[in-house]
Amino acid sequence: MDDKKTIFSGVQSSGFLTLGNYIGALKNWTKLQNDYNCLFCVVDMHSITVRQNPSELKRRTLEILKLYMASGIDAEKNILFIQSHVPAHAELAWVLGCNTYMGELSRMTQFKDKSARNDENINAGLFTYPVLMAADILLYNADLVPVGSDQKQHLELARDIAERFNGVYGNLFIVPEPYIGEVGAKIMSLQEPTKKMSKSDINPNGYIALLDDADTIVKKIKRAVTDSENEVAYREGKDGINNLLGIYSAVTDKTMGEAQTEFEGKGYGHFKAAVAEAVVECMRPMWQRYKELSDNNDYVEKIYTEGALKAAYLADGTLKKVYEKIGFVI
Ligand code: TYM
Repeated sequence: MDDKKTIFSGVQSSGFLTLGNYIGALKNWTKLQNDYNCLFCVVDMHSITVRQNPSELKRRTLEILKLYMASGIDAEKNILFIQSHVPAHAELAWVLGCNTYMGELSRMTQFKDKSARNDENINAGLFTYPVLMAADILLYNADLVPVGSDQKQHLELARDIAERFNGVYGNLFIVPEPYIGEVGAKIMSLQEPTKKMSKSDINPNGYIALLDDADTIVKKIKRAVTDSENEVAYREGKDGINNLLGIYSAVTDKTMGEAQTEFEGKGYGHFKAAVAEAVVECMRPMWQRYKELSDNNDYVEKIYTEGALKAAYLADGTLKKVYEKIGFVI
């Protein structure tokens, strides 16, 4: 083993990926991949906390895996896999669940939000979901977890669980650090810029899907809600403009300051057209690679099959140590 630190991160396959997922997560993964040993997982087990259509779930899981690769994540250097292929995730989640308090889980804002939105299906999995997420991370002794800011609370819980376990049974887990990018940690809805851009938004104009075509992206950005002024500046109260500036700066790798200077004295029409063009230019190579991968299912299958073997090897090693610590006969 080299002395590089480890990264773990994942995306649920409960819908298509949005520009928020790309900027908040995938883009940072591609930046970090050379300096860390990385595991990137499609967390399909998390997805079923909300009822899924089985054939749709299957399709989305593979779509997301291909988008990981298409966005520039090197499938040969990193471990790319599907969560349900590695049983140790569920097994460690059980052990960690016995070391997590109901009170801690009740405080999770995402549980509160999701249960409010799915009041006909507030299942136990939705409640214990952060424990499975902690298991994902701790199984691989990840040092760093690159996520958007909406996952910060779950990460803090994972840290608390790791510290508690280490305290009771003796040091085993690395306590993971979140990595949350300065720009784009929370991309907002284009229609309601005080709310997170989300794949579960019922209004498709609120989000940009990574596989939206160029015309759709241009239209959605043109329709984005702004304000009654006509000044492109990052300021409190200008949520729509702040969000578009964040998107622009993330996809062009410019600072917010540079982005603002560029649009000084320019109107919203001009600004929106430039944001749309920058997003499309950023997506274009991804679409091309996605198409190539879609024509090469055997390669994709090879990647996730080998990925699961490598991940399982690491995960089983950790699980064995956990079982030893807690007194299971192994
Ligand atoms: P998920 O699937 O909701 O989102 C995947 C990643 O995308 C980020 N993200 C955003 N970032 C910026 N702006 C947005 N509008 C936006 N929407 C989503 C999320 O913060 C996340 O990084 N529980 C996790 C998945 C997970 C996981 C893990 C992540 C399961 N196990 C272990 C890291 C490590 C989730 O539901 O993310």
